[in-house]
Amino acid sequence: MKSSVLLALLFAGIQAGAQTKESRVVVDASDPKTRINRNIYGHFSEHLGHCIYGGYWVGEDSPIPNTNGIRNDVVAALKRIKVPVLRWPGGCFADEYHWMDGIGPRSKRPSMINTHWGGVTEDNSFGTHEFLELCRQLDCEPYICGNVGSGTVQEFSQWVEYVNSDNISPMTEARKKNGREKSWGVKYWGIGNESWGCGGNMRPEYYADLAKQFGTYARNFGEHKVFKIASGKYGDDYNWTEVLMREARQHFSGLSYHYYAFSDGKPAAEFDEQGWFNVLNTTMKIDEYLTKQCAVMDKYDPEKKVALIVDEWGTWHGVEPGTNPGFLYQQNTLRDAVASACNLNIFNNHCDRVRMANIAQTVNVLQAMALTEGEKMVLTPTYHVFDLFKVHHDALWLPTKVESPDYVQGKDKLQAVNCSASLDSTGRVHVSLANLDPGNAQKLSCSFVKFSPVRATGQVITATAMNAHNTFDRPHVVEPKTFSDFKVRGEGLEASLPPMSVVVLEVEGKLESKEGKK
Ligand code: AHR
Repeated sequence: MKSSVLLALLFAGIQAGAQTKESRVVVDASDPKTRINRNIYGHFSEHLGHCIYGGYWVGEDSPIPNTNGIRNDVVAALKRIKVPVLRWPGGCFADEYHWMDGIGPRSKRPSMINTHWGGVTEDNSFGTHEFLELCRQLDCEPYICGNVGSGTVQEFSQWVEYVNSDNISPMTEARKKNGREKSWGVKYWGIGNESWGCGGNMRPEYYADLAKQFGTYARNFGEHKVFKIASGKYGDDYNWTEVLMREARQHFSGLSYHYYAFSDGKPAAEFDEQGWFNVLNTTMKIDEYLTKQCAVMDKYDPEKKVALIVDEWGTWHGVEPGTNPGFLYQQNTLRDAVASACNLNIFNNHCDRVRMANIAQTVNVLQAMALTEGEKMVLTPTYHVFDLFKVHHDALWLPTKVESPDYVQGKDKLQAVNCSASLDSTGRVHVSLANLDPGNAQKLSCSFVKFSPVRATGQVITATAMNAHNTFDRPHVVEPKTFSDFKVRGEGLEASLPPMSVVVLEVEGKLESKEGKK
């Protein structure tokens, strides 16, 4: 029997023996004041594998339908989830990228070796103009990461000038010659990437000085004020954050932070229940790490002026068999969908400090939204989570309290249910829930403070197998479905969350202001 069939039977068995446990959620609508910045739903795309080339860029002469060289199917799919901001060109690639090689006639652009990712030749056919055209088509904010590791202050400063200035200068003249009359006005600029690692292996003290130096010369032009993002740390290292905040916080508006949930190196769909548990367990640790990173930032910046920008996050599995190990091409299963729902709930719940997050890496790399092969494209389970969660974009965050049984795996355990909630501009409350337990449904009672529900609708993402995923041949295996296993009862709502599921409820009702019912 094939191992995939065995795994499917095993997972179906887990569901067949499913029990129902009880969870409680309280959503507090008494004083909504912090907004969930829509940029928490941002993306990251690097010159890595087939993210840029093949994923977005096919060139104007391609038989794949495209607009100005950028494939139409990918753009249409990403528009549906309202991608708010896109980080580019890396990643590690950013610190070896020389932007001037990526402007002007494509046939004249020099090539380079992409030493970080597969050692392939990068012909620079996708550069600044192409990236900003992509952002125009997506209707999203660009976020450009500059080269601090192997670039110069002058190069960085001229990039900002080329993109943002409307004065007369050699940079703006070059831009006009290359077909763009007016400045684009890019707001978000990164001062290097992982400067403690692939971006130069620096000490925080040394990088703090460079962040000040590079930041100083990233000028504001006219009405275009730059939002500078310093390179931050990974995981549970707090000293980098401490030094940056102490030494240089006046010189940037955001400090970045990276975190990946690595699995055991096997391809994304090859795992058992231990593998399911491990990835979710690693995912959930970001909650504690963010709390502690924020506490360090609070020490120096109690008014929370500096944003924490989680500009790389996601699951990281082994590559698909037969693909280039340097291309980080991975499938995406229900496990990734549940992991992304946990992450997004956590980011929502830290929205007072976390004002942008960028999942790695949109197309064909790591925890992607879409996979492509030639002219084919398939949407991943993670894409559908982003689709359901878009109701939180720019909504007012509502604090929640969760009581849920543990999901126990051997000697380890995790809280089975997590959630976040928000109030949108039309007065609707959205509650997004993840049930991490693959063996047990959750009988959920959800109550509200200062909000009386009247009616609700819901959507659910689940499957009969933990490793369920979409392929080019079977693209609809994991997709949102209407969720009707709930009732509005009295002042609350009762629902049954299926095992291993993501549920988003939309609740209409009456908001009670502090003065009384509205
Ligand atoms: O997303 C892949 C890589 O992970 C990025 O290039 C780097 O910043 C991180 O280590």
